[in-house]
Amino acid sequence: MYPRILIDTGKYRDNVREMKKLCARQGLTLMGVTKVFCAVDELVDVLNDEEVDFIADSRIENLRTMETPLPKVLLRLSSKHEVAEVVLHADYSLNSDIDTIRMLDGAAVEKDKKHGIILMVDIGDLREGIYYRKDIVSVAKEIATMQGVYLAGMGTNLTCYGGVIPDAVTLRRLVKVVTDVEEAIGRELEIVSGGNSSHIPLLQEDIHIDKVNNLRVGEALALGRETAYGKLVPGFHDDVFILETDILEIGEKPSVPQGTIGMDAFGKKPTFKDKGVMKRAILAIGKQDVEHTELEPLDSAIELIGSSSDHVIADLTESKTSYETGDVLRFKLTYGSLLSLMTSPYVVKRYV
Ligand SMILES: Cc1ncc(COP(=O)(O)O)c(C=O)c1O
Repeated sequence: MYPRILIDTGKYRDNVREMKKLCARQGLTLMGVTKVFCAVDELVDVLNDEEVDFIADSRIENLRTMETPLPKVLLRLSSKHEVAEVVLHADYSLNSDIDTIRMLDGAAVEKDKKHGIILMVDIGDLREGIYYRKDIVSVAKEIATMQGVYLAGMGTNLTCYGGVIPDAVTLRRLVKVVTDVEEAIGRELEIVSGGNSSHIPLLQEDIHIDKVNNLRVGEALALGRETAYGKLVPGFHDDVFILETDILEIGEKPSVPQGTIGMDAFGKKPTFKDKGVMKRAILAIGKQDVEHTELEPLDSAIELIGSSSDHVIADLTESKTSYETGDVLRFKLTYGSLLSLMTSPYVVKRYV
């Protein structure tokens, strides 16, 4: 059945091992992040076997069903509407809102659990976290008095919303806040989580940020890339996941529609460049599964020129292969395409 994603668990395992080696250089623990592949069992098992230090996902639904002996971390900030589920299904959660943390504390006491809070600090990327210039020490001191939750650590996230690249200057803001908090509560924090796959260039350059002892890594494990500059990390695989989809129709057609142009299937007025007659193919996958702009054909002469809900249109004119209907095209994936394809129930997941 097509479309399908071929998932190479051996290559994923190699990436996990390489990442562990990179972390070990600076004595960092590793949270393996599973959200981009919807925490499928086969890859969770690899993280289990390779004994990463924590397993992390942004969705409670994934943490609830995940079978793992590893400590579980909720990566998205806890919701006030889910505190009971958070303390039941996660050992740690990332948080920035003291009201929510008070509710987590109440839920943990009620369920007789000890739940670790990782307090997030925003050091400039402007997504989650208490802004580093605000009074974080008083929040930390309050958490330190709680019974059901405890202040397990602090963390920051970069290169997500604002695209801020981790460097020693920016991360010094985190180090300063962590130092202030540790002084105020009179102990060292168990976890200081410095960032995600965008932190890898710092590891490669042997730049150690004082106090940082953990990374949360998803994309580099899945796609082999660091995310500060988007480069393949040496020794990592970028083809753990390959999409295969088949050709439903093939033939020569003009490149510009004929008739008065109104709207496309998504209410937008399309524009076209006249490239003469093209060899065009219709592929059995569409926007319901993936954005065609996020697919990289392994046959580099193929260009994907558009899509609707159930179809992608490909220009095969320059390809040296003479494709026919039923033939299967193969693609490498980006973070965006992997995320949506793994979430689509119409895409078969096949392990190799
Ligand atoms: C808070 C947080 N930390 C870490 C990650 C992992 O990021 P990456 O996939 O770039 O390694 C994500 C994204 O999933 C995240 O939201």
